[in-house]
Amino acid sequence: MTQNSKRYTITAALPYTNGPIHIGHLAGVYVPADIYARYLRLTGNDVAFMCGSDEHGVAIPMRAKKEGVSPQDIIDKYHGMIKKSFEDFGISFDNYSRTSAEIHHKTASDFFKKLYEAGEFVEETSEQLYDAEADQFLADRFVTGTCPKCGHEEAYGDQCENCGSSLSGTELINPKSTITGNTPTLKQTKHWFLPLDKYSDFLNEWIVEGHKNDWKPNVHGQVKSWIDDGLRPRAVTRDLDWGIPVPVEGAEGKVLYVWFDAPIGYISATKEWAAREGKNWEPYWKDKDTKLVHFIGKDNIVFHCIIFPSMLKAHGDFILPDNVPANEFLNLEGNKLSTSKNWAVWLHEYLEDFPGKEDVLRYTLTANAPETKDNDFTWKDFQTRNNSELVAILGNFINRVVVLTHKYYNGIIPENTGDYEELKQIQHFPAVIASSIERYRFREASQELMNLARLGNQFLQANEPWKKIKENPEEVKGIMYVALQIAAAIAVLSEPFLPFTSKKLKHILALDTDLGWNDISQKEEFLPAGHSINEGELLFAKIEDKEIQAQLDKLEATKKANEAAHKKAAPQKDIATFDDFTKLDIRVGTIVEAEKMPKAKKLLVLKVDTGLDTRTIVSGIAESFAPEEIIGKKVTVLINLAPRKLRGVESEGMILMTETPEGKLVFVNPDEKGVNNGATIN
Ligand code: 2FM
Ligand code: ZN
Repeated sequence: MTQNSKRYTITAALPYTNGPIHIGHLAGVYVPADIYARYLRLTGNDVAFMCGSDEHGVAIPMRAKKEGVSPQDIIDKYHGMIKKSFEDFGISFDNYSRTSAEIHHKTASDFFKKLYEAGEFVEETSEQLYDAEADQFLADRFVTGTCPKCGHEEAYGDQCENCGSSLSGTELINPKSTITGNTPTLKQTKHWFLPLDKYSDFLNEWIVEGHKNDWKPNVHGQVKSWIDDGLRPRAVTRDLDWGIPVPVEGAEGKVLYVWFDAPIGYISATKEWAAREGKNWEPYWKDKDTKLVHFIGKDNIVFHCIIFPSMLKAHGDFILPDNVPANEFLNLEGNKLSTSKNWAVWLHEYLEDFPGKEDVLRYTLTANAPETKDNDFTWKDFQTRNNSELVAILGNFINRVVVLTHKYYNGIIPENTGDYEELKQIQHFPAVIASSIERYRFREASQELMNLARLGNQFLQANEPWKKIKENPEEVKGIMYVALQIAAAIAVLSEPFLPFTSKKLKHILALDTDLGWNDISQKEEFLPAGHSINEGELLFAKIEDKEIQAQLDKLEATKKANEAAHKKAAPQKDIATFDDFTKLDIRVGTIVEAEKMPKAKKLLVLKVDTGLDTRTIVSGIAESFAPEEIIGKKVTVLINLAPRKLRGVESEGMILMTETPEGKLVFVNPDEKGVNNGATIN
């Protein structure tokens, strides 16, 4: 570490490996954490940026059951996918670990044992919800019901996502097992509880009083309201077969609660990284001069500000977080992001659909980050941020500077012949941007960076070198010299936000890679006269309407599929007597001819062999079937329906049809072999 540098342990919430990463995760956690980590490295600090997969949530065995595979298959699939998409997106974790790693099992087990041996837990046998059919206790996501606090009908057994309350299964009104749908019974079981009530005063003093002004109001407010409501002991073990076994006698068949083991994953990841790098992990978690910062979404506040700190305090060896800058939620086109409803922009799909445009998404999510309130991601806004800011401001400025430098000076930086105050103005930007980043205001920081590009554009616009090059080439040298210094400052200061662009720009300018953030405020010259730059390359390209439309169409298809999946069955009709039913003469038949009814979009005229005769039936299926594809098809026919004329053609019966959730008509098809035409259906 250099003289003024500090040690930082930065953590980003460990994603569950039950689905891929989407823009909500990115905007809420990973993009701001990455900006912060990159900025701190650039300013010469010692940074450990830790993350990994959270592989013990109950969502994992549930997903495995749904897909008919093992939980291990699920975690391997999503761990690989998530890790790769983070790498491809430029999230610069120093280590991306996983909680199934041996080092994590050991670290979490040892942590539990230490608290157990120190008598920090309360052991209690109590009645818990139990699903007799599934032979399983129902904790957390295995049970849903009505939230006792806000009345939300789909609250889970650990938390209500509507009001954020932390719950236990037994508090739910009308609980239902998510495995069988049954109403659970109560059964006795023993668990270990962390007595959070014991930590209430400490948490109050440390956060409510001590971090009134520097923690975000949403975080501070949630913590305060939790404490004001009264903290209760919280079970840290579960009756499940997926997780880290509880390492004490008499706990067979029990595992650690996922929220007990997951945050310890930050420590395990640091240990794994330090071992790999030949470093000592301990100062990153034990030295009181280390700043620990947790990046999370708002649904994780209680775990990072109440439960994990109480665990750390009970353990005694570890530092506490300096800040927990939790973000609010990002919505997508006006609706809540949802993995189960596929309402998301998935990172791996984005990377495929928009190759080379990682920074566009990073920038859009930062400029519109849900820092103080929930925000909406729209594809239109994404397009505007790209076309009107990245292309029209930043890209345009760099392009003009590079093109003119090649045109006027064969790519060699001219000498400074002027005296422009812009050279001094550049020096303010590192501190302005840094101040926003250090206060976790990444949106503001990204706009300050854009202001530097605006300064460059305004400078060129005001001095118009292209008009002066003939009459006053000496003056133009000074103008271009200044514009090039602005471009160099952008190359350095954009690195946390737009790492791919920064790299390209440094290459174009052949910029000394050692040039750091602080150099921009301390020096006046980053590209000396006589230095050669490289050929330009396009930094940002316009995104066309049709690319945006393709994304909107994809979402529309998801919406339709969701509506179809949730379509309710029609209510039952009035009772029909047995006599009513026997009046209907329903037979098996075969379509032997089919043709379109002239001038009618929906109608086909069919000839159907009913076993008794071959008769004409007019059927409203022309939008679902072409005539040639249904000839020879076995169908179910109501043959004694009173004949009626449709467009002048007499129809003598009705083909029975049904509909898929997407609205496509299908035949009620007597598929069994060996059924003859004319066979009755009863
Ligand atoms: O909410 C989530 O996605 C959790 N998997 C976050 C865990 S953060 C940590 F504590 F590990
Ligand atoms: Zn609620």
